[in-house]
Amino acid sequence: EAGALWGGRFASGPSPALQELSRSTQFDWILAPYDIRGSKAHAAALAAAGYLSDDELQRMRAALDELAARVADGRFVPSAEDEDVHSALERGLIEIAGVALGGKLRAGRSRNDQIATLVRLYLIDHAAGIGSLLLDLAEALLDQALAHPAAILPGRTHLQHAQPVLLAHQLAAHAWPLVRDLERLRDWRRRATRSPYGGGALAGSSLGLDPRLVAAELGLGDPLENSIDGTAARDVVAEFAFVAAQIGIDLSRLSEEIILWNTKEFGFVRLHDGYSTGSSIMPQKKNPDIAELARGKSGRLIGNLTGLLAVLKGLPLAYNRDLQEDKEPVFDSVQQLEVLLPAFTGMVATLSFDTARMAELAPQGFSLATDVAEWLVRQGVPFRDAHEISGELVRFCEERGVELHEPSDEEFAAISEHLRPEVREVLTVEGSVNSRLGVGGTARARVDEQLARLAERVAEF
Ligand code: ARG
Repeated sequence: EAGALWGGRFASGPSPALQELSRSTQFDWILAPYDIRGSKAHAAALAAAGYLSDDELQRMRAALDELAARVADGRFVPSAEDEDVHSALERGLIEIAGVALGGKLRAGRSRNDQIATLVRLYLIDHAAGIGSLLLDLAEALLDQALAHPAAILPGRTHLQHAQPVLLAHQLAAHAWPLVRDLERLRDWRRRATRSPYGGGALAGSSLGLDPRLVAAELGLGDPLENSIDGTAARDVVAEFAFVAAQIGIDLSRLSEEIILWNTKEFGFVRLHDGYSTGSSIMPQKKNPDIAELARGKSGRLIGNLTGLLAVLKGLPLAYNRDLQEDKEPVFDSVQQLEVLLPAFTGMVATLSFDTARMAELAPQGFSLATDVAEWLVRQGVPFRDAHEISGELVRFCEERGVELHEPSDEEFAAISEHLRPEVREVLTVEGSVNSRLGVGGTARARVDEQLARLAERVAEF
């Protein structure tokens, strides 16, 4: 079998059905530039250990540069017979450098330590890009919050009106998880930047190569301590897939709110024409497709994570071919986020808020009932009684179809002697919001501080 990396002990070549099953170039070709960087570093380690002369090293590295150029502009592509990115690139190297030189490169390494290293290099690169796209989104949320410092919306629990909150507070509540996702990427990177190269197939190399040379040239930290672990573990891949899934979930929760806010019934936001879509039959429609795609893709990102975890579960040490199944899910997670985040950030940055509509709804649904109870507590009423009195006021108002401040002084007094007319002073949404001065609360003063802190945290990344 011309070009295969393992023909020697086989009497016949692989069956077409096996080749079809085994081939991974349709998805692992994306790793070709990383593979070539690894090969250049490996050549230097071979030369340092005396397996390549200076001249051979020069010619090997020049040939690898030429191969990289041919890969980059499409002059060299995998053929149907190439099993994977590694086999294809060895064929390409031998085409350029000849078999006498090209055939020397594979000494002291295996596709097992190679692939474990390359998938890290790919993820480290793309994690940086995803981090910066995420930062753009956090900044868009922060800018929207800063642009609406006083707007009030009905805060909800159980999707029911709960207590009024500042819109800026709610928007920042969607930005903080993104800051934590950025922290997660930063923490993950510390674990990802260790090098499996030098682990060989599983047991390490007998050729006296220095894996630190390879690691340093690849921009990685120290080689991993254990060659079996280095070639067989994929927790770094799974952890990345988790962070991607969590990002998807954070986007999806915001999406759900944007989709609701954009309905006729809520009427809190309008989507920019550039970030919404129409219907092929209903001329009036303006749909929140970006938010819906984000919500849908979050399911897909979760699937990529769980599929990968299921592949890893129960795998004996060391390398098993099952591990080839790690790539498509995690590459997909990367690609989905790279296409989703720019559109999502554009949608958020161009949202326009109907603050009058929010203000109109904010006091409805008796969302100030807690303020009545807390006012009573400040008058010395035990909270248990205060809760009861406020609840009776709600029932009274609900039966008559009026708001909490509307009963007469006599009606207040009939509900409880403690309900004096001054209670009306806390029965405004502004009064309610601005009384929430505790740490992390929705009072304007606290939210202004919070946004300043958020801006600091965002600037860290
Ligand atoms: N294509 C494999 C993977 O993605 C790497 C090659 C290892 N193959 C092998 N037969 N040991 O994991």
